[in-house]
Amino acid sequence: MEKRQEGSEEISSKKGTVGPSSTLEYLNPQYWDERFSTEEHYEWFKDYSHFQHLIKEHVKHNASVLELGCGNSQLCENLYNDGVTELTCIDISAVAVEKMQKRLLSKGYPDIRVVEADMLDLPFGDESFDVVIEKGTMDVLFVDSGDPWNPRPATLNKVMAMLKGVHRVLKPDGVFISITFGQPHFRRPIFGAPEFNWSMEWSTFGDGFHYFFYILKKGQKIRDGKLVQTTGTNS
Ligand SMILES: C[S@@+](CC[C@H](N)C(=O)[O-])C[C@H]1O[C@@H](n2cnc3c(N)ncnc32)[C@H](O)[C@@H]1O
Repeated sequence: MEKRQEGSEEISSKKGTVGPSSTLEYLNPQYWDERFSTEEHYEWFKDYSHFQHLIKEHVKHNASVLELGCGNSQLCENLYNDGVTELTCIDISAVAVEKMQKRLLSKGYPDIRVVEADMLDLPFGDESFDVVIEKGTMDVLFVDSGDPWNPRPATLNKVMAMLKGVHRVLKPDGVFISITFGQPHFRRPIFGAPEFNWSMEWSTFGDGFHYFFYILKKGQKIRDGKLVQTTGTNS
């Protein structure tokens, strides 16, 4: 993951959490398989209660939602409990997918779809979803970026492959929500690449360290060649 201002996502005292020897391990699907074989639940950044108000503002009940890199997070259950029931989750880890499928069945969420897939090669048709959401998953792609002001071309290629896929599967008025510690000065040049027809705004949440909740609205005009932007609101 990119260098953070403070703190760490990994709380090693959490039962079952396997911290990697190097953050480069986050790019290795086998790391995730091993981790998820022992870890039952880990919520990256903050749990749903911290950004629920932002979800309510930007995700309609009847929206079809794709979650990228669900891991063993409870985000999909939280969305479902808030009335957003047309949900598809993907993860690159077969172990995460199998355990998530079992967990959702046993907890009474049989209609949430969980699919093993790579977010760099999304197996969905064009314009299939109203909302694509990710929490901490795109950040994984940045662990080998080097200088965050000038990421390596190989890193940028992967990030762009992911974002092009997200843009493709979003409906013409769809919304991409990215929950991350990546600050706007690093994200703006990437989200604002000319191939994307979406606007960008963001809010922050969390106490102490603030996380970012980016909202990219497809189909919105980019004014004067610049991205639409709102000032972050703390909550
Ligand atoms: C940092 S964890 C975030 C998990 C979860 N979103 C959360 O908020 O707790 C990253 C997740 O992305 C998954 N992942 C990593 N690379 C992926 C890829 N290329 N495609 C899909 N999932 C991927 C990992 O298996 C892991 O579950």
